[in-house]
Amino acid sequence: MHPSDLGPYDPLALPDTAPGERPTIATACGKVILLGEHSVVYGEPALAAPLSPLRLSVVLAPGEDGVRIELDDGAPEGASTSVSRALAAAAAELDLGLPLPLRVAVRTGGLRSGMGTSAALGVALGRALLLWHGEEPDDARVLAAAEAVERLFHGNPSGVDHTVSALEAPLWFRKGETPDPLTGLPALHFALLRRGSAASTAEIVAGVRERLGADSALVRTVARMGRVAEDGLEAWERGDVAAFGEAMTAQQAALDGLGVVAPSDRDGIDVALGAGAVAAKITGAGMGGSLLALAEDAVGAGRVVDAWGAGALAFAVGDPG
Ligand code: PMV
Repeated sequence: MHPSDLGPYDPLALPDTAPGERPTIATACGKVILLGEHSVVYGEPALAAPLSPLRLSVVLAPGEDGVRIELDDGAPEGASTSVSRALAAAAAELDLGLPLPLRVAVRTGGLRSGMGTSAALGVALGRALLLWHGEEPDDARVLAAAEAVERLFHGNPSGVDHTVSALEAPLWFRKGETPDPLTGLPALHFALLRRGSAASTAEIVAGVRERLGADSALVRTVARMGRVAEDGLEAWERGDVAAFGEAMTAQQAALDGLGVVAPSDRDGIDVALGAGAVAAKITGAGMGGSLLALAEDAVGAGRVVDAWGAGALAFAVGDPG
């Protein structure tokens, strides 16, 4: 039979299924904090950017019995329980029933520690649940669902991770304020070393809180990180790569002072600097998580990627102009 024998394509004439009776897929990008991790928890500003090519995906499909979770091969122990709890928290926040029986497949899409995996999970679950129920996945509801998931895992998150993931734009972010998407800035070239770390963000953040309570000099360190983030934004606006690098270097020293830098982080930073990086620092919670290096240009970022090897990638933020 020739395809034209089937008559004109009319989607409305096709049998359809109601929302919830067909698989739903949603994705959310990872993020990278350029400046301001940890200090952002205390109200200081942070600069963060989406990692659009690295996307966590969630598929919801009708199941046979209860909730069945499917994860990437080699997913860490307890990941299934975390996804179930996240799903329940997102559904409760959205006031949507948990559609049972349900199959939930989560693929992390190459995200690792420090790249906002739990935030991307919250954003993708929020989107998938809304779509499953035939509702629009608007930013406000997706952000609320993702925040509920982040609270589950991180206690009192600054919100930078899930906000960047949901809005998928470079942001100047301050806790509790409407974030400012950044546009029209010159391109900055980075290398990112993705590393899986067993350290929990919640525990690292709690450790910083404890040390701040015991040492007032560290409170000043946090305030200084805020000023350095502002210097960094101004440097970026001027296209001054060296000055942006100085801001990264100053923040790395401050983060070391806060006790979130592991020896393996220092080694990785030395490798990046040895390969000609302008600056390098931890990104995200630290303690063996991902590392970020600034380069003069794309070629320089490629050199750092080669020196770091497996798990490294190059990306640019801003307008290629
Ligand atoms: O390591 P990640 O991706 O979970 O990033 C955490 C960022 C912190 O600033 C350390 C915590 C927060 O709530 O902002």
